Amino acid sequence: MTAPLRFGLLGWPVKHSVSPQMQGAGFAALGIAATYELIPVEPAHVAAKVAELKQAGFAGWNITVPHKGAMRRLVDTAEPAAMAADSVNTVVHRQGQLHGYSTDGYGLEQATRNAFGCPVRGGRFVFWGTGGAARATAVHFALEGAVELVLINRTLDKAVELAALLRQVAPGCQLATYAPEPTPALAAALRVADVIYQCTSVGLKPDDPCAIPPELLAPGARVMDMIYHPTRLLAEAKARGCQVADGQDMLLYQGARSFTIWTNQEAPIPAMRKGLRRALGH
Ligand code: ATR
Repeated sequence: MTAPLRFGLLGWPVKHSVSPQMQGAGFAALGIAATYELIPVEPAHVAAKVAELKQAGFAGWNITVPHKGAMRRLVDTAEPAAMAADSVNTVVHRQGQLHGYSTDGYGLEQATRNAFGCPVRGGRFVFWGTGGAARATAVHFALEGAVELVLINRTLDKAVELAALLRQVAPGCQLATYAPEPTPALAAALRVADVIYQCTSVGLKPDDPCAIPPELLAPGARVMDMIYHPTRLLAEAKARGCQVADGQDMLLYQGARSFTIWTNQEAPIPAMRKGLRRALGH
């Protein structure tokens, strides 16, 4: 009998992650003998931990905050979106070589298709918040043929920086940047968007305010929060007649692509969704 394949998640912290249950349900559904471990590692020790995982024969791993950039520099190859976004959230280890991928953008794309039936190609999208999560996903959207990306951030410089990166990645994509103030120009940009994505950390804590001024949310607008718990934004948006979705499907589909990268098999989505929901207590 061969030993189970070993996978895991590197992050700091990682203890609240639901990925072990989600990936575990996927492995079980396909009868794959594999484990998925939580691997807490402080930023200063990432390179040493990666060397340890290689030595121990791990077949692959996921990477979460705050190590996605560091991991990009530790892999031997990385797919174009991961290179451009400086973000690796999935690694495959084959014969001593590490191959890096960024599956967050795919996750957001599939979640958007599921929730709103809306394709990325030809679409107009608003990213409210331009931190690491927005960067990884916006790069994917630019590469996949979005026609316009609107970037909004409290620290406007960071939105402008991301716009410059996206201009290099996809010169044909229209880009606009705004500070998060409810001006008529910003209201107009939100009105024509196919989807508005909430990408800040506002909403992670139960007492957090609404991440987007509600007066900017027109009835019928499609709003997706990357946070996978209920947020004040989604409640406000729903009350104003918007179509809403939380970040669960993004989490599911980024994990599904990791699963496929590791196993070369189609991810068993219903089983993984069930594992995820059970872990979240939904
Ligand atoms: P992640 O990897 O989850 O995207 P991050 O890179 O730390 O995390 O980015 C956090 C995002 O949330 C940023 O867009 C940040 O805005 P700034 O660039 O201005 O810091 C945003 N954010 C965090 N707290 C916020 C707050 N109280 N109000 C508005 N935006 C906030």
